[in-house]
Amino acid sequence: MAAISAVFLSLCSSGDRIAAARQLYGGSYSLLTHMLPRYGITTTFADVSDLEAVAAACDGAKLLYCETIGNPVVTVADLPSLAAIAEAAGIPLIVDNTFASPILCRPLEHGAQMVLHSATKFLGGHHDLTGGVLCSSSAEALEPVKALARALGPTLAPFTSWLALRGMATLHLRVARSSDSALVIARVLADHDDVESVNYPALETDAGHDLAATLLGGRGGGTLGFSIAGGRERAARFQSELRLIRPAASLGGTHSLIVHAASVTHTQLSKDELELVGISEGFCRLSVGLEDVEDLLADIDQAMQRSA
Ligand SMILES: Cc1ncc(COP(=O)(O)O)c(C=O)c1O
Repeated sequence: MAAISAVFLSLCSSGDRIAAARQLYGGSYSLLTHMLPRYGITTTFADVSDLEAVAAACDGAKLLYCETIGNPVVTVADLPSLAAIAEAAGIPLIVDNTFASPILCRPLEHGAQMVLHSATKFLGGHHDLTGGVLCSSSAEALEPVKALARALGPTLAPFTSWLALRGMATLHLRVARSSDSALVIARVLADHDDVESVNYPALETDAGHDLAATLLGGRGGGTLGFSIAGGRERAARFQSELRLIRPAASLGGTHSLIVHAASVTHTQLSKDELELVGISEGFCRLSVGLEDVEDLLADIDQAMQRSA
C-alpha cells in the first residue's frame, strides 16, 4: 500500500481525478474512495471489462489504474486495450500485478508505464514479510515517486529486502505449482453441488479464459474465487471446518489461505458496491499454496460435508 500511495500522491495533485478499474483490492479501493478525496483527488471507477466505460472514465483523468487479475473476483484485465485507451487519453496506465506476478505477466510489455507488486504475496512467498515494489521502464518516470518516498519514508528495511530476494529465487517454481493446483481445485469446485459459481481464468468456462491464454501464458495464477451455497453463514462454517487450509487474509505464499471477501478483505465496500464487483454473500477467495493438491482436495471435501 505504501508503493500504491506513493504513486497516486506523487503523480496527482489536488483537483486531479484518477480513472480506476472497479475490480480492486479493498485497501486500494478504500484509499481511492475515502482517503484521497480528503486531499482533493477523486476517482471514477469503471468495470475493467467494459472498455467503453473505461475510455469515458479516462477522459480528463490523470492516470488509469487497474490490477492484472482483479482482487478478489480474479477478472483478467485486457492490458493491451487498456494501454491503447490510456495512450489515446494521453495518460499513463499503472498496473498492480500482484496476483499474476512477473512469472505470468509483465505489464510493461503490454503498454503499462508503471507496475506495482505487493511483495508480501508471491514475490516474498513465505508469509514472512510485508513490502511493495514499483517498476518502470523509464527511470525518469520514477523520479517524482522517489522524491515523495524521500519525503514520506516508505522504505523497505534491509532484512525485508533480503527475505524478498530469497523468496524470488523460487518464484517461478512456486507460481507454476500453485497455478497447477488451483486449476485442479477450480475444476472440482465447479462440479460441486454446494458451489454456485467459480471464478478462475484458466477454467475453459471463465469469462477471462481467452485473456488468460494471451496474457497469462494460459495459466490462471494461484488464486481463485468461489461462491458457496448457503451464503455468509455456510461460508463461515466451511472455513471453520478446514484443517489444512487456513483462514487468513494474505495470498501467494507457501500455505493455502482462505478468506470470506465480504467480511475480511472487502469490508470497506457497501452492499451495493459488493454486488457491482460481483462479491456474493458466500464468496470465498482461496489462495492455493504448495501443499499436495490431493491433501487440499481432501480438506475441501471434508469441510464441505461437515458444514452442509
Ligand atoms: C492486489 C493487491 N494489491 C496490494 C495489496 C496490498 O498489499 P500489502 O498488504 O503488502 O500492502 C494487496 C493485499 O492484499 C493486494 O491483494
